Amino acid sequence: MGFKLKTWNVLVLFVLACSLLGHAAASVSYDHKAITINGQRRILLSGSIHYPRSTPEMWPDLIQKAKEGGLDVIQTYVFWNGHEPSQGKYYFEGNYDLVKFIKLVQQAGLYVHLRIGPYVCAEWNFGGFPVWLKYVPGISFRTDNGPFKYQMQRFTNKIVNMMKAERLYETQGGPIILSQIENEYGPMEYEIGSPGKAYSQWAASMAIGLGTGVPWVMCKQDDAPDPIINTCNGFYCDYFSPNKAYKPKMWTEAWTGWYTEFGGPVPHRPAEDLAFSVARFIQKGGSFVNYYMYHGGTNFGRTAGGPFIATSYDYDAPLDEYGLLQQPKWGHLKDLHRAIKLCEPALVSGDPTVTRLGNYGEAHVFKSKSGACAAFLANYNPKSYATVVFGNQHYNLPPWSISILPNCKHTVYNTARVGSQSTQMKMTRVPIHGGLSWRSFNEETTTTDDSSFTVTGLLEQINATRDLSDYLWYSTDVVINPNEGFFRNGKNPFLTVLSAGHALHVFVNGQLSGTAYGSLEFPKLTFSEGVKLRAGVNKISLLSVAVGLPNVGPHFETWNAGVLGPITLNGLNEGRRDLTWQKWSYKIGLKGESLSLHSLSGSSSVEWIQGYLVSRRQPLTWYKTTFDAPAGVAPLALDMESMGKGQVWINGQSLGRYWPAYKASGSCDYCNYAGTYHEKKCGSNCGEASQRWYHVPHSWLKPTGNLLVVFEELGGDPNGISLVRRDIDSACADIYEWQPNLVSYQMQASGKVSAPVRPKAHLSCGPGQKISSIKFASFGTPVGSCGNYHEGSCHAHKSYDAFERSCVGQNQCAVTVAPEIFGGDPCPNVMKKLSVEAVCT
Ligand code: GAL
Repeated sequence: MGFKLKTWNVLVLFVLACSLLGHAAASVSYDHKAITINGQRRILLSGSIHYPRSTPEMWPDLIQKAKEGGLDVIQTYVFWNGHEPSQGKYYFEGNYDLVKFIKLVQQAGLYVHLRIGPYVCAEWNFGGFPVWLKYVPGISFRTDNGPFKYQMQRFTNKIVNMMKAERLYETQGGPIILSQIENEYGPMEYEIGSPGKAYSQWAASMAIGLGTGVPWVMCKQDDAPDPIINTCNGFYCDYFSPNKAYKPKMWTEAWTGWYTEFGGPVPHRPAEDLAFSVARFIQKGGSFVNYYMYHGGTNFGRTAGGPFIATSYDYDAPLDEYGLLQQPKWGHLKDLHRAIKLCEPALVSGDPTVTRLGNYGEAHVFKSKSGACAAFLANYNPKSYATVVFGNQHYNLPPWSISILPNCKHTVYNTARVGSQSTQMKMTRVPIHGGLSWRSFNEETTTTDDSSFTVTGLLEQINATRDLSDYLWYSTDVVINPNEGFFRNGKNPFLTVLSAGHALHVFVNGQLSGTAYGSLEFPKLTFSEGVKLRAGVNKISLLSVAVGLPNVGPHFETWNAGVLGPITLNGLNEGRRDLTWQKWSYKIGLKGESLSLHSLSGSSSVEWIQGYLVSRRQPLTWYKTTFDAPAGVAPLALDMESMGKGQVWINGQSLGRYWPAYKASGSCDYCNYAGTYHEKKCGSNCGEASQRWYHVPHSWLKPTGNLLVVFEELGGDPNGISLVRRDIDSACADIYEWQPNLVSYQMQASGKVSAPVRPKAHLSCGPGQKISSIKFASFGTPVGSCGNYHEGSCHAHKSYDAFERSCVGQNQCAVTVAPEIFGGDPCPNVMKKLSVEAVCT
């Protein structure tokens, strides 16, 4: 059977299924080339923005910037544990107002790809599952299990019905054109075998049965049953093909960077390589690309997964954590999107013809019946330039790059030639009238209050806390005989505690004796240190701290946390004493948590210490202060560098966990865009805090009297905390003479072009900022990158003049890159470029 017939069958089935379920004929469908909307094949560019990772006040601007960046679709997961925090009690307000988010996308004229999951992974606590789900009798997650399937179907149904009631599916005139069930289940299915297979088949038919009228995808699910489209996730997806010839080639997660973990470097993915991977996917017939993430945002509160996922989920995305353009990535992708859209008529017409260009090159040519022609010329060599001949013309291709020729003649874009500016950001301290004056409150290190309970042996932490708090106290008494030898030889006995994770503070008689913690790769930890004991009764109190529940891995719901032992004391007269099976008393959460010290009402319910008595560098201390909101619109953050580990709230809202004491270890080597990218390449922050700054959304502030509360575990100095503003420090451009650039040709969708014009260097500062000086400008052969440019052997002596004239004192400016602008050609017959750095103030 030819695939045309098959396609037809699928379409008929699909339309039939939809009409049987009482819907208008589907206006969103697909064929082997693309998603079709109202019968039109579309090349769709999409970006992930997870609504709870920002605030509703930020949403319109994020969506607008995504639109200006050339996106057609916004993709989001649906976060079950945010929407059903306790069983049967739903929450769809604030930054969980899913309907509002989708309607804002619709108002901006964009489509939505709704990934219901409800398993989402996403570096989100418990992969999006509510913790109560683990305690449903007989449950086993993500497999052929009745109780799980029942709950999954119930929630999926709830979301789909909500979308239908709000008329949000495309078939109802809404923006949702696609959906997703499950998430990357394929590898799991492979691991668990037939129950996995049965489950994924069930999930697929359950989803289809909901009659949404729009196609469903399953990502990383090679055996996704018809009519569900299996899609690819990864740094590159050009090699991917769907499981049936009549399905389009879709990339649901093009990773724009990677997440940060506490203790790890901050990952960066060069814009040139990201653009290369996307162009490579499109040239191989791909028709849907979603950037994961387009805006990463923030893991507010205790939503970070893990364990050890940082609070910032910046992801090195085109829009940074604060919602500002991350340049050059945002601009370079915008240019890529315009180039791809110019090719759309040819791209959707059929499959490309591929010809080799030398050892490392390839040309992919798309032609339509009506005469449109688009070509992609690729050089896969990561080390050297290639000069290729295509259609009787020579083309120069930088290493590891693809040139796009929307009329098969003129290069309007090359993935390695960045035409947009790059910016360096800065965090500037915001002066607070009168400074921050702190008060403190000492958290208790005893567990003897009404809520504590005693059992024999050690309890698993998540079972005990149900994740209502990060904290669980384990306390026990140890009686020491005055005749112990260590009193004479001065060798303190050794306490050894094995914990399943994630962090542990050990207190002996109320004093912090030491701390140990794991990492994302090894959440387990062992504390083993000499401890000071006295004759008689000693109180050993272990504060076990969870740092986000796991979000990925086979049956992660069964993974343990907390002190599971053994716990031993070595170096006593008797040798070794095992404390594991004695009586332990427990307390869930902190005293300050039960008093709601983070909130306005709770914080005024206790006496705080003030003035010179305020604790500093004391473990387990609460701090509070108030401040007035600063003027201006620049995003704000707290600089927490002087602190160790804990949580921070403003006006009762949690900014998340902070942990600047966890320094990034790993590699932060020189970063070359060329060559296969992986998440360990191009890191930054080695030797420094993985995360120093914590986003304070503007909408959480009142004009005056904002309550800032900090809970510090290790002993930091609150006097070092400051409020900072995020601004552009400098704007740079690196542009080659005759650099392929969309504006260098007045290219029409028809493929007609006017004469080439010279490229321009565009520079712009942030809102309210001005270019105060030109730090560097050289037309010739400058070297280096934004922040550290140097002149090369060739330099036009009037390089600065044009910028000083047109840019200084302006918020933005543009200067043509041509020899006559810089006082004439400084070195004829040499390939020249312009590098410029403008300072913003
Ligand atoms: C994918 C997953 C996403 C996210 C990503 C890493 O495998 O589908 O949810 O976890 O990895 O950031």
